[in-house]
Amino acid sequence: MPVSPHPLVCAPSILGGHHDNLAGSLERVRASGTSWVHLDIMDGHFVPNLSFGPQTVAALRPLDRDLFFDVHLMLTRPDHYWEAFAKAGADEIIIHVEPFYPIRKTLDAIREHGLRCGLALNPDTPFARALPFLPHIDLLLCMTVQPGFGGQSFREEVLGKIDEAHQHRLDHDLGYRIEVDGGIDRTTAPRCTAAGADTLVAGTAFFHDPDPAAFRTALTREP
Ligand code: DX5
Ligand code: ZN
Repeated sequence: MPVSPHPLVCAPSILGGHHDNLAGSLERVRASGTSWVHLDIMDGHFVPNLSFGPQTVAALRPLDRDLFFDVHLMLTRPDHYWEAFAKAGADEIIIHVEPFYPIRKTLDAIREHGLRCGLALNPDTPFARALPFLPHIDLLLCMTVQPGFGGQSFREEVLGKIDEAHQHRLDHDLGYRIEVDGGIDRTTAPRCTAAGADTLVAGTAFFHDPDPAAFRTALTREP
């Protein structure tokens, strides 16, 4: 029995792929049969790591125009950079609530550009911080690890926040998807979908699994 009003989606994070052959990693994503790919952008300031920029996204875009490019900006000033990723071919741009910048104005600008917009909460950030923005987003990302690195352990205390976010969208008839990101695998995914998550980002577990299609099927099986 599905919990979320949205169909479950697996969004492999290409950060967990092969950085000497991202095109090959994108091929593996496509071979899994999923329709989403998650692209993690890090500035070395909001998070203590650097990943890749709009030029890499632009290089991947023509390789598959059907995959939904879910771009996660882990930046202190996403308002300065979101447009470069829009031009590079993003379909959705997720920005964090924690830094100080015009959040609502940036969300609206992303939507006015014709893209979907998402808002991300770190594990220690309470759901309440998202409340003013929920009617204006297409997706709420409840980080299940502290952002910055793949391969970390799932933080199960976030399950309560997922449940709170799911209950809130039911109570207020809001349509945002609930995405989880970090430590998501065949064991932790069903715990998240049972709490109301519907969009499952997996980097390490996806790229380490011998059968990407079976992995996707396992993650998107209704709870
Ligand atoms: C972490 C990123 C995640 C990461 C995936 O800052 O946002 O998307 O690449 O994490 P794992 O490897 O745990 O699935
Ligand atoms: Zn991410």
